[in-house]
Amino acid sequence: MAVNLVLSFALAILISSSPTAVGVDATEELKEAVLTLDAGNFSEVVAKHPFIVVKFYAPWCGHCKQLAPEYEKAASILRKNELPVVLAKVDAYNERNKELKDKYGVYSYPTIKIMKNGGSDVRGYGGPREADGIVEYLKRQVGPASLKLESAEEAAHSVVDKGVILVGVFPEFAGMEYENFMVVAEKMRADYDFFHTSDASILPRGDQSVKGPIVRLFKPFDELFVDSEDFGKDALEKFIEVSGFPMVVTYDADPTNHKFLERYYSTPSSKVSKHNSCYILFVSSKYIVNYTC
Ligand SMILES: *[C@@H]1O[C@H](CO)[C@@H](O)[C@H](O)[C@H]1NC(C)=O
Repeated sequence: MAVNLVLSFALAILISSSPTAVGVDATEELKEAVLTLDAGNFSEVVAKHPFIVVKFYAPWCGHCKQLAPEYEKAASILRKNELPVVLAKVDAYNERNKELKDKYGVYSYPTIKIMKNGGSDVRGYGGPREADGIVEYLKRQVGPASLKLESAEEAAHSVVDKGVILVGVFPEFAGMEYENFMVVAEKMRADYDFFHTSDASILPRGDQSVKGPIVRLFKPFDELFVDSEDFGKDALEKFIEVSGFPMVVTYDADPTNHKFLERYYSTPSSKVSKHNSCYILFVSSKYIVNYTC
């Protein structure tokens, strides 16, 4: 990867220093940390990058204005990352880009998507909105789907109060259970962090004597951890969605809560009712969203 970067950099210099060559795209890319895309060059640029993040924004939107300098800063840090991470933006309010807006289901601003493998793999961005958080989240997204935990220090640092974390414990890193865990990790990585280990004794909570295969879900709410031994792909996904979903979500400025809220809103059965002068959204008999009021 590093070699590729050096090569394309050298190529760009070559193009821009040659008086006859046009090379607008390559020089543009070197100058700006965040690439500006529109309907005319979107597909071409996305196809060129194995991992590109696209922010769909509207010029008037307040959250977009807040995000813009953070996104720019993150882009300038990430362009030096070992594995290339490219940040781009599209003015989705511009009529010219309506097709892109529709294609990627942009219903609110800003909407951020991660596009991999030339745009064939598109997922929602589930990370923070300030520069350091964006950098940390995207570095994690561009690397392996699950990271190996080697020590108690590492486990404590990665697991405790970091949101919903999955750790697979396997006697060996092979077999159906391990492979399914990796498939699910790849699928759900935008919303949860995945780790694996062969040594449950380094984990900060739960039975430390288990040998596995077992998956332990750590969470900063409710009962703090839950184990499952069902490694069917669908069962594992369901386990993560159900056990990783808090019974009560407080709607406040904490961005880690927003993905839960988005899911409440997108559930068709949701309804809103007023309670003690706070609006409370009931999605099912089990889950309640508390609004700050
Ligand atoms: C894409 O096209 C727009 C409008 O022509 C231009 O402003 C932008 O710099 C182009 N982006 C890239 C990466 O070439």
